[in-house]
Amino acid sequence: MSLLVALSQWDAETWRVRFKTALPKHDIVVLGEPFDRRAVHYVASWKHPAGALDGLPNLATIFSLGAGVDHLFADSRLPNVPIARIVDPDLTTRMSEYIILHCLLALRQHRRYAAQQLIRSWDDDRNQPAAKDVRVGLLGLGVLGLDAASRTGHNGASFRTFAAAEQLPEFLAHTDILVCLLPLTDGTRGLLNLDLFRQLPRDGRLGGPVLINAARGGIQVENDIMTALDEGSLQSATLDVFETEPLPQDSPLWNHPRVTVTPHNAAMSEPTAIVAAIANQIARIEAGYPLENSVHAARGY
Ligand SMILES: NC(=O)c1ccc[n+]([C@@H]2O[C@H](COP(=O)([O-])OP(=O)(O)OC[C@H]3O[C@@H](n4cnc5c(N)ncnc54)[C@H](OP(=O)(O)O)[C@@H]3O)[C@@H](O)[C@H]2O)c1
Repeated sequence: MSLLVALSQWDAETWRVRFKTALPKHDIVVLGEPFDRRAVHYVASWKHPAGALDGLPNLATIFSLGAGVDHLFADSRLPNVPIARIVDPDLTTRMSEYIILHCLLALRQHRRYAAQQLIRSWDDDRNQPAAKDVRVGLLGLGVLGLDAASRTGHNGASFRTFAAAEQLPEFLAHTDILVCLLPLTDGTRGLLNLDLFRQLPRDGRLGGPVLINAARGGIQVENDIMTALDEGSLQSATLDVFETEPLPQDSPLWNHPRVTVTPHNAAMSEPTAIVAAIANQIARIEAGYPLENSVHAARGY
């Protein structure tokens, strides 16, 4: 039984060694070298080239090497087999740290004081809103969203939840800091657009709406973010993900004074944790237990 490492960006040889250590009884093969396609039962993929998984007659499971699976569904010829993604407590904690950090930076007006420091300005404005007066709205209450929400000091019962598109306007009307932790699907592509930003309240205690997107760049419309910043329907934005990555050198987001750019590393996964999680899943499958963290192909996440 083989596991095929199917990558387009990362170093496949490094991953082969990691998987061989965790799965010594399995053959580990990589794309680009000759291998017995009939022996492949498992695929571990990160952005594999479209069509690369054709002709694997005994393929049983595809594992995403990350939490997101949009890269898999970008392959219109993806084999119709069970798919699992990574759910890793370390990754989840890192994402919550990122969200809480950037919410607090917005709350405590860090962008403004950093700019003041550059020009040696001592403007000790006393308008410091209390955390309880600032409303954080989370789009996507899955593994990452729930953890980020609960680490802000609430428990499951004490934050208000909204569901379905009909409740989106009401949700937006009560949001000062909009955090996006949605998966990229046909239902979320381009959701963070000008029409949505204009529904955020401009009279909140932060002086304007703040956007934090740490999910996927395809969910945001970057031209609309620029327009929203100019017209005031956004006061600032913290973006970890972009329509094109790496963010092109000529993007105006790089040096906008009210935009923070981070290089898609809000929540990195440790390779050893990813490999251990997949090896554990394979052991479960081979012992007859059901797959964990499975993905619904029809929903796209
Ligand atoms: N920047 C980074 O470093 C980084 C790292 C890891 C992950 N990510 C991104 O974070 C995303 C979320 O991860 P996760 O583990 O929290 O995923 P998850 O557990 O699958 O949660 C996704 C949540 O989004 C909700 N959702 C899906 N489509 C929706 C829609 N159209 N409208 C409203 N809600 C919708 C789901 O609702 P239901 O509960 O109703 O299904 C679910 O609550 C990943 O897909 C990945 O793209 C980014």
